[in-house]
Amino acid sequence: MLRTLWKHVAADLTLAAPLLRLHFHDCFVRGCDASVLLDSTANNTAEKDSPPDLTLGGFNVIDEIKTELEKACPGVVSCADIVALAARDSVSFQYKRLLWKVLLGRRDGTISRASEVIANLPPPYFNFTQLKQSFSSKGLTVHDLVVLSGAHTIGNSHCPSFDNRLYNFTGKGDQDPSLSPPYAAYLKTQCKSLSDDTTQLEMDPGSSLSFDNHYYKLLLQHEGLFESDAALLTHKTSLNEVKKMLISRNFFAEFGQSMRRMGNVQVLTGTEGEIRKKCSVVN
Ligand code: HEM
Ligand SMILES: *[C@@H]1O[C@H](CO)[C@@H](O)[C@H](O)[C@H]1NC(C)=O
Ligand SMILES: *[C@@H]1O[C@H](CO)[C@@H](O)[C@H](O)[C@H]1NC(C)=O
Ligand SMILES: *[C@@H]1O[C@H](CO)[C@@H](O)[C@H](O)[C@H]1NC(C)=O
Repeated sequence: MLRTLWKHVAADLTLAAPLLRLHFHDCFVRGCDASVLLDSTANNTAEKDSPPDLTLGGFNVIDEIKTELEKACPGVVSCADIVALAARDSVSFQYKRLLWKVLLGRRDGTISRASEVIANLPPPYFNFTQLKQSFSSKGLTVHDLVVLSGAHTIGNSHCPSFDNRLYNFTGKGDQDPSLSPPYAAYLKTQCKSLSDDTTQLEMDPGSSLSFDNHYYKLLLQHEGLFESDAALLTHKTSLNEVKKMLISRNFFAEFGQSMRRMGNVQVLTGTEGEIRKKCSVVN
């Protein structure tokens, strides 16, 4: 699958971000069981049709890899494992070596409910306490929270994920004081009003295709895009973790370990679930 994935990422470097994010959205809702890949049916609205998941991407690449794998060895590799591998392989492309080991053996779930996304996925306006609670409910620590937030070193965001910080932070037409004023001024030139829901911008401007620890430098300059990013500076423990991540080799070592922990959240094993034949529908 590596060859197919790298072929896609080589042709479109922006693919790494959605593929990395897909694994996060999968694991936080019903565990890493590929429930995020299931299509809605006549009597069920699936996760991918809930608002936070409407900005996901990379589904077609996962489907292509699954088709290839089913041809070569039918019924062996789960869609959940493909998502976990694709997250690792897509950010590894830049380095032409695999950045961490992925544990395999996940099985695919058969249930996907849109309503469970809001209940399980932390939104961008969460504060530190809420983020800590969200991660801890998945067996993840503040350390994991800080390290995995480093994923925001690649990819884009739409204006509604942060524009309240620019135009109406406390409902009085004000700006978030924890956001760097010059950076806020720049962001306002991109997101011109609260009604702009189509503009996308790089979360790590100028370096949004490079998977590295630059996110933490921005964060300490008060240029983290979301309140959830800025929240990492509000507690001593997480602030210390942020500072450790300024050393590149710490970030790379810790990111792989935290991804492995996230990739273990509520996984189905043994005879639980199934190995889907096609990732968008249950067998
Ligand atoms: C800590 C809690 C987190 C929050 C609140 C959060 C929130 C968000 C939001 C709001 C967006 C932009 C969506 C849009 O407007 O288009 C985004 C993008 C992204 N997130 Fe997170 N995220 C979190 C953690 C993570 C984790 C753990 C990962 C992966 C390990 C991740 C990977 C990404 C990536 C790669 C993008 C860019 C996607 C693209 O360019 O298509 N995020 N996140
Ligand atoms: C959805 O509807 C179909 C046909 O109407 C039915 O066979 C299936 O069991 C239903 N699924 C659920 C989860 O209710
Ligand atoms: C975080 O948000 C929750 C829910 O809105 C609120 O009760 C709590 O006081 C906030 N914590 C901090 C430290 O701002
Ligand atoms: C700002 O927030 C307040 C309180 O939520 C709301 O009443 C007001 O309409 C908002 N302003 C704009 C421009 O959306």
